[in-house]
Amino acid sequence: MPLVSMRQLLDEAAKGGYGVGAFNVNDMEQIQAIMMAAKETNSPVIAQASRGARKFAEDLYLFKLIEAAAELNPDIPIAMHQDHGNSFETCKSAIALGFTSVMMDGSLKEDGKTPTTFEENVEVTRRVVDYAHERGVTVEGEIGVLGGVEDGHGAGGTGLEHITDPDQAVEFAERTGVDALAIAIGTSHGAYKFTKKPDGSVLKMDVLIQIHKRLPHTHLVMHGSSSVPKDLQDIVNQYGGHLKQTWGVPVEEIQLGIKNGVRKINVDTDNRLAITGAIRKVFAETPEKFDPRDYLTPARAAMAKVVAQRMREFGQAGHAQDYKAIPIEEMAAGYKSGKLDTRPSVAAR
Ligand code: 13P
Repeated sequence: MPLVSMRQLLDEAAKGGYGVGAFNVNDMEQIQAIMMAAKETNSPVIAQASRGARKFAEDLYLFKLIEAAAELNPDIPIAMHQDHGNSFETCKSAIALGFTSVMMDGSLKEDGKTPTTFEENVEVTRRVVDYAHERGVTVEGEIGVLGGVEDGHGAGGTGLEHITDPDQAVEFAERTGVDALAIAIGTSHGAYKFTKKPDGSVLKMDVLIQIHKRLPHTHLVMHGSSSVPKDLQDIVNQYGGHLKQTWGVPVEEIQLGIKNGVRKINVDTDNRLAITGAIRKVFAETPEKFDPRDYLTPARAAMAKVVAQRMREFGQAGHAQDYKAIPIEEMAAGYKSGKLDTRPSVAAR
């Protein structure tokens, strides 16, 4: 099956009342792990690449890996998404490569660190929406600023500094026409999100619920949504790692989000931890080994296990064959005719 529009995956998820994990890909083992999990659970797939991933793997290697995944798994719909595009040009180059979805993170300037003004964010996101929709490609925007830093992208901090203002979220959705909207509710990228199990003072699920009530037709996205489970931290530390104890986003909070309009859930750190723990274990237990396959095979299996678990928890499991892929040109026609317009003033009619 050719790559599928992310918008279609999210529309189907909304109809079915489930969420779809978006898992980061940097290399062959990671896309293989995602596909192993998708096959096991019969799930639709969102694979995403950051700018750092595109640089690390080189665009063409990376994209060909995703194409191989699609060719080898014709029964599984796969959307390929640019994570945290920092400019119009980054999004344009992802679309030229064949990505079916882009995130224009206009909440930060092109340096990926400095917050922009609301007007700057609207302007660059609107420009990407016009360009992408003409080509049938999905757009995710961001309003509010996430904490943490990922692949050099992020304002740092705890994530509580720039919680999304629901009024601004509504205005942003109206003025940009994004398909999906990442909101800041206190999560941050990376392992160190919370110093204890988060409650409502640091994880603002109430803000998410308010935004969904006002924007029922815009798919919400939760970034920084690794759960950072203790067992994965323990394996890393047991075999020589030095992680400070930390808490991520509890799965039950994500499930509450899914009941309230969250359709895309970004997970990267949990997979990194699973891979690192598995590799450390092989190095520690069998220091005589030096064939990469000896440690990459268990690393891939460890990531596949985490991804399969998330696919079940997010509810996407069992939904891979619910629908036929809409060709990307047909999506472009849908945007042109206004059928896929998500702006609150239009979609509510
Ligand atoms: P985590 O660091 O929580 O996995 O978040 C990843 C992410 O949001 C990618 O955009």
